[in-house]
Amino acid sequence: MTEVRPTAAASASLWERDEEVAAVARAVDSLCTDRSSSGALLVFRGEAGLGKTALLAETRRIAEARGCTVWSARGGETLRSVPFNVVRQLLQPALVSMLPEEAREYLGDWYDIAGPALGIAEPGDRRADPQGVCDGLVAAVRRLARRDWPLVLLIDDAHWADQETLHWLAGLAERLDEMSVLVVVA
Ligand SMILES: Nc1ncnc2c1ncn2[C@@H]1O[C@H](COP(=O)(O)OP(=O)(O)OP(=O)(O)O)[C@@H](O)[C@H]1O
Ligand SMILES: [Mg+2]
Repeated sequence: MTEVRPTAAASASLWERDEEVAAVARAVDSLCTDRSSSGALLVFRGEAGLGKTALLAETRRIAEARGCTVWSARGGETLRSVPFNVVRQLLQPALVSMLPEEAREYLGDWYDIAGPALGIAEPGDRRADPQGVCDGLVAAVRRLARRDWPLVLLIDDAHWADQETLHWLAGLAERLDEMSVLVVVA
């Protein structure tokens, strides 16, 4: 009898999602090729209950099996008006686990601008320019992607994400060729 070994792409639990799971496996493979590989964005779209969250869970499984670092966050209907809520969920755990000097290093010159949005620095006297905050958060991901490579970011229910996070995500998507990170959005 031939032994059938499950591959990273094979999914035991999801029906009719071979194409999506294969796309995830390819993207994870590509991310894991080397530290200079360019980043990528995968988007799962579908009606309520079609299995977007289940695909993200499968993505996490595949990525962790390949030794990736996986961070995740989700939009919430009641939190849409909280600026940077989703990006804070995504990055804050990594940043608060660092010493303050280290977090300052990862945010670099952007620390004073982006730190308050992430809840890791006291807000300054002046109101921060939202574009500056977004740029700072993109720069932070670039550095974190180098530190935590191979890094996968999962964002569920992005349709409920706050506007500031969506703006950041759009900026990040434009700069993915500069950083080795896989972003998967549902
Ligand atoms: N391909 C699949 N095969 C088997 N079960 C699935 C599949 N996709 C989803 N499910 C199951 O269907 C249910 C709904 O899936 P899920 O929560 O992932 O949908 P969703 O698209 O995220 O929904 P929502 O838009 O409400 O967030 C879950 O119990 C999930 O385990
Ligand atoms: Mg869902």
